[in-house]
Amino acid sequence: MRSLLKAIALLSVVFILVAGFGFFQYGDSLSRIRPLVTGSFKPSPTAAPPAATSKTPAIKGNATLSPQEPSYIQYIHAIMDPTDATFPRLECPQPNLDRYAYLGDPSTPALLPKFFFALDLHQCVHLLPRLIGSIVETMRFLGPHNCVLSIVEGRSDDGTLEVLRQLRSSMELIGVKYYFQSSDINPAAKGADRIEALAKLRNLALKNLIRHPENYAQDTTVIFSNDVALCMEDILEILHQRNFQEADQTCAMDWTYVGDIPTFYDVWIARGMTGDSFFEIPENGSWDSAWNLFWNDEKAHSRWANSKPFQVFACWNGITAFTAKLLMEKKIAFRAHKENECYQGEPKLFAKDMWFHGYGKIAVVPSVNVEYSDEAAKKIKALKGYASKHVANEGDDVKITWETSPPEKVKCMPDYQHQSFVAWDEGLHG
Ligand SMILES: *[C@@H]1O[C@H](CO)[C@@H](O)[C@H](O)[C@H]1NC(C)=O
Ligand SMILES: *[C@@H]1O[C@H](CO)[C@@H](O)[C@H](O)[C@H]1NC(C)=O
Repeated sequence: MRSLLKAIALLSVVFILVAGFGFFQYGDSLSRIRPLVTGSFKPSPTAAPPAATSKTPAIKGNATLSPQEPSYIQYIHAIMDPTDATFPRLECPQPNLDRYAYLGDPSTPALLPKFFFALDLHQCVHLLPRLIGSIVETMRFLGPHNCVLSIVEGRSDDGTLEVLRQLRSSMELIGVKYYFQSSDINPAAKGADRIEALAKLRNLALKNLIRHPENYAQDTTVIFSNDVALCMEDILEILHQRNFQEADQTCAMDWTYVGDIPTFYDVWIARGMTGDSFFEIPENGSWDSAWNLFWNDEKAHSRWANSKPFQVFACWNGITAFTAKLLMEKKIAFRAHKENECYQGEPKLFAKDMWFHGYGKIAVVPSVNVEYSDEAAKKIKALKGYASKHVANEGDDVKITWETSPPEKVKCMPDYQHQSFVAWDEGLHG
């Protein structure tokens, strides 16, 4: 259950709750699990209290305690050293670095950074060795001076805040520009507009990029990650595909184990070129059809089944890489729905605004599969295969044939009881 609870951490993209109880109602079968999305958010009595900075952290200083209570320093060591075995983490293969060498472009030392890693993190200290560790490995490979790491921590009392704060000196040592801030914005607070709060947190993580575009290369890419367990090769592959496909945005596939059943997670956000969700959810909210991905989209289904990238209308899926151009030009930012717009999550609105400005080359890279804990990520990698396995068997029709127009209509799903198709650009004119 722990992995489930993690999977639905406050800053996760999909909004799941059971009115009056918690965020998630779980059981031993998919049909009993009815994650709900709802427009009228009811605050959860089990939600973490705001601003936990004054609380005693769960792990203490740099004193070495029992294995259950490692010190911050041990976390920092594990983050900085991929071979550190203090924490049981998802094992990662050594990627085919030749494939990705061009991304770092070491021959022409960049004057300005061009990779902006952004994260909003809440209560996930146990994930940091794998998540931040893989990001640090990637930044070292891409050239630390090409990279910026920007993290917004929120309301954690498990040591997440302390570890991320202490990371600063290590980042300075390797030459990565590090922006770290803690926010008490609480998307689950009473009376809070959840999506507006999440959008604020995302924009906060992007603050320096938006405020000071002159400090960044024109072709800067944002890599925005959820609290997922993943490998360096996962990050490099979505960056590579963004380049190779000339995509404006590339996303992974994210999964959550519902009991023993791996289930595509970001179903509330993601929409295919049919405008429909990746799997069908009936009005009773059942996820029984979660196994039946792209049931009405032959093209996407075939590309997905063969681990080949395919175009979508919207995705986020745990980790995503996208052009920073529209953010730097202040044309778009993360936002909540307008009055005359379907109630929807901020990543879906972000994709919609991208399309609106002519940036509709948005793709899922199905060779990259991530999960929300180390243990479950091991299972999903065993099941779906590591990215490197798929890359080694890459066929010759990898290139996406881009469609230049979005689907006319896109599924609006403020909650499962209310589903309809609306114009893709609903509310954007006048
Ligand atoms: C939910 O609705 C679907 C489609 O109408 C139906 O097949 C399924 O049995 C229902 N599940 C539950 C748990 O009511
Ligand atoms: C923590 O580290 C500092 C500096 O290395 C040291 O002076 C201090 O005694 C350590 N504290 C504990 C509780 O181990």
